[in-house]
Amino acid sequence: MAGVFIVFEGGDGVGKSTQARLLADWLQNQGHEVVLTFEPGDTKAGAVMRQIVLDPATGDLSPRAETLLYAADKAHHLYEVVLPALERGAIVVCDRYVDSMLAYQGAGRQLGADRLEAIARWATGDLLPDLTVLLDLDPERGVGGIARPDRVEGAGREFHLRARAEFLALAARDPEHYLVLPARTDRERIAAAVRERVVPLLSDPADTLA
Ligand SMILES: Nc1ncnc2c1ncn2[C@@H]1O[C@H](COP(=O)(O)OP(=O)(O)O)[C@@H](O)[C@H]1O
Ligand SMILES: [Mg+2]
Repeated sequence: MAGVFIVFEGGDGVGKSTQARLLADWLQNQGHEVVLTFEPGDTKAGAVMRQIVLDPATGDLSPRAETLLYAADKAHHLYEVVLPALERGAIVVCDRYVDSMLAYQGAGRQLGADRLEAIARWATGDLLPDLTVLLDLDPERGVGGIARPDRVEGAGREFHLRARAEFLALAARDPEHYLVLPARTDRERIAAAVRERVVPLLSDPADTLA
């Protein structure tokens, strides 16, 4: 694949969207084509799936159904947004990806890591990020500060502690493709640490424009 695929992961409220935006802006200023996107919900069909999963009005949703909706969102997002961008050589910066599903549905909802990972890998055609930045934070300080939690944010402390541990375990399994940073420290310093790790993955923008 010609492009570069960078993912931000971590709990709710850890600063993923903030850092994804800072990185995308910086890359754009360096002359790269950047696609800043997120999961779930950054396609027309995905927005409907996101609505079902996150809206408290959905009420009780079978954990397997929840998982498959996330997987469907990913499959469609890859097809419509991520793969076309990577194929034309763009840098894709994505807010959440497969690890969120493994952490929230696998560990959080306790659905069994191995089979869930097989579903996630099938849904995404085994596309792995070149780099995943994990912003790590005690859920008490992240999701705990959200005034009106959605269905997943409101799933309880034990759920979020299991998810945090799973994010860290996934990173520890493949350190070459992960950067783990403590979240909610100075946001410029986090951004600088991310850039330092991303730069070696980039080709000269002059080459890709030529
Ligand atoms: N490094 C940081 N230090 C303190 N607060 C931060 C930092 N980064 C983001 N925030 C704030 O924390 C909140 C959640 O950030 P956001 O980027 O939306 O997190 P996420 O996308 O992971 O849910 C926002 O109010 C944001 O302004
Ligand atoms: Mg966000």
